[in-house]
Amino acid sequence: MKRIIVTIDGPAASGKEKISKYISKKWKLKHLDSGILYRQLALIFLKNKVDIKNIKQVKKKLLEIDNVSFKKSREIRTQMISDLSSKIAVYNCVRVFVNKLQYDFVNKNKKTQRFVIDGRDIGSVVFKNADLKLYIEVNAEIRAKRRYKQLIDSGEKSIYPKILRDIKLRDKKDKLRKNSPLIIPKGAYIIDNNSSFKSTVNQINKLLQKI
Ligand code: DC
Repeated sequence: MKRIIVTIDGPAASGKEKISKYISKKWKLKHLDSGILYRQLALIFLKNKVDIKNIKQVKKKLLEIDNVSFKKSREIRTQMISDLSSKIAVYNCVRVFVNKLQYDFVNKNKKTQRFVIDGRDIGSVVFKNADLKLYIEVNAEIRAKRRYKQLIDSGEKSIYPKILRDIKLRDKKDKLRKNSPLIIPKGAYIIDNNSSFKSTVNQINKLLQKI
């Protein structure tokens, strides 16, 4: 069976997760959310009281870690972990570590051979030769509104202007960092996710039919 890799990149709260899950189910692709790996690492640093401003401490801890969970949990969805993960994501040593986890994941799942992987640098750095590269575009205000509704619906307190501010700040950090900044990968299709989910997946399904 030919290996197929579909990459999905885009800014925070652009709907990558929902889109990846949909594609994974419809097209029977194994899903890997690389953001989870950055978040799990941030949690490990937090629990072990690693001073993330101190690169020596970060490097030392990376050498000691022998297992990183690929699972999503409430613990890694907090604002604190969102902030921490975007801070550690600037370090090259952290990115090399996370990229290796991704390569191992793909190599370990040899039987599967069909993957959808989402993040910020998947089509531009990690899997440059992917079969299909997608870049999800949604304006910051719409992303903030959707995140706000999600939080309110799940019973959490939330303030729209703060959410918008946080999203803009994370965009800035993701786009301006030196190592693997968020860019539109070469050869990627830009997917407009500003309107309905249906219109978004229609754009994507048309592309997937061709590979
Ligand atoms: O997608 P997310 O919000 O779960 O990602 C958490 C953080 O990890 C985010 O601030 C940016 C970083 N990240 C990254 O730099 N590269 C990736 N491929 C995925 C996530």
